[in-house]
Amino acid sequence: MEDKKKVIFSGIQPSGDLTIGNYLGALINWSALQNDYDSYYCVVDLHALTIRQEPKELRARTLKNIAIYVASGLDPEKNTLFIQSHVPAHSEAAWLLNCFCYMGELGRMTQYKDKSQKVGESVSAGLFTYPVLMAADILLYNTDLVPVGADQKQHIELARDLAIRFNNLYSPTFTIPEPYIADTGAKIMDLQEPEKKMSKSADNPNAYILILDPPEVIRKKISRAVTDDLGVVRYNEAQPGVSNLISILSTITNKKPEEIVKDYEGIGYAKFKSDVADALVAELQPVQNRVKELLEDKTYMESIYKSGAEKANYVANKTLRKMQKKLGIIPR
Ligand code: AMP
Ligand code: TRP
Repeated sequence: MEDKKKVIFSGIQPSGDLTIGNYLGALINWSALQNDYDSYYCVVDLHALTIRQEPKELRARTLKNIAIYVASGLDPEKNTLFIQSHVPAHSEAAWLLNCFCYMGELGRMTQYKDKSQKVGESVSAGLFTYPVLMAADILLYNTDLVPVGADQKQHIELARDLAIRFNNLYSPTFTIPEPYIADTGAKIMDLQEPEKKMSKSADNPNAYILILDPPEVIRKKISRAVTDDLGVVRYNEAQPGVSNLISILSTITNKKPEEIVKDYEGIGYAKFKSDVADALVAELQPVQNRVKELLEDKTYMESIYKSGAEKANYVANKTLRKMQKKLGIIPR
């Protein structure tokens, strides 16, 4: 019999349009793993609701994200692609896990501290318990690996702590997940403040490039990207803006940063930037065309997220039933 494949679970919030940070830092790596793992990728719409959303936009973005997953190379036959709210076990398991999580643990989460500062008075309880829902997402699938950015490591630690706590109080129920912070996927930085990670929630649209930005917008944003006045294409800490553009080009072309530096010896920023923009446009155009086709094919889109939810419900419900049974809840 074939060895059981390890399970991967990850999710992206439909709280903003996806950037080339998501694409180069997450999506293309996920596609590279699809033959070797049993992978679940989820659009975490319930997490997005921790911040006010425009219903119409949330709907559109949720579908767009599924289309982007597929267009970026995730084969819906090989990966389970679904929408979080289509699997009610996530909400149910989150409640159960809430009863095992301490206020102090949640209060220490840096993402909560940052976000709650931003929204001020109107911090919802959902924003506070957000990591518990995330733990439910992960634990329901007996997940081994969770590919995420470094900022999510703390949340995965909490998922591990909750899993260990539950396993110790009852009996082994959950697989203890590991964060998987890929070193192949570059960390893409903000184009205006290259000391910060590129984020879909930045205020200035020139700070990020969206996967679906039209070519002329991509060119304009790259040409406006902050560099420095040294005038040499080098990869080092003193030149964060230029180094970030090198990382982008390096990830797309599979060339090492040092090779790129060599290629651009004696060549100025204008030519370098226009090459980076060309490479990005060439990389993203097929993805954009595919997203457009997918969104026009409602029946196919529906078949993707419905069959994804069917498989996810099956696995998640099994784990949920185990939890309920151990806790003394009468089977339905
Ligand atoms: P987020 O958009 O922060 O919800 O992140 C979703 C996924 O995209 C995570 O796996 C992140 O690691 C990845 N990601 C987001 N922004 C970047 C970035 N600027 N560079 C690299 N990876 C990123
Ligand atoms: N909190 C994650 C983020 O903001 C998104 C997320 C929700 C997630 N549930 C998850 C990531 C489960 C990995 C696994 O990026």
